Amino acid sequence: MKKSSTPYQAHLFVCTKSRGGERKSCGDGDNPALKDVLKDEVKKRGWKPVVRVSESSCLGVCDAGPNIMIYPQKIWFSEVTHADVPGILELVGSLVTEPA
Ligand code: FES
Repeated sequence: MKKSSTPYQAHLFVCTKSRGGERKSCGDGDNPALKDVLKDEVKKRGWKPVVRVSESSCLGVCDAGPNIMIYPQKIWFSEVTHADVPGILELVGSLVTEPA
């Protein structure tokens, strides 16, 4: 095993798990599309080398979803919708300290 530190200043995990209506899940909300929007915005803003957006499966708090978590800052967004994208991006921008 090789141990190293993450190259990302902020890593967004966007839960897109869908349970097909069996019970509440993040994939029922805006998250699948939001992941693509966030990825595009990160690329457009030149943050890609230091900010990563990853699709995630269940993060364990489905009832609070759709959920997005940001590491290593331990920031958690719940009940996320498209209307929240500008605020999420503003926060992520405040976390980026190195130019791309
Ligand atoms: S389905 Fe997203 S946290 Fe469980």
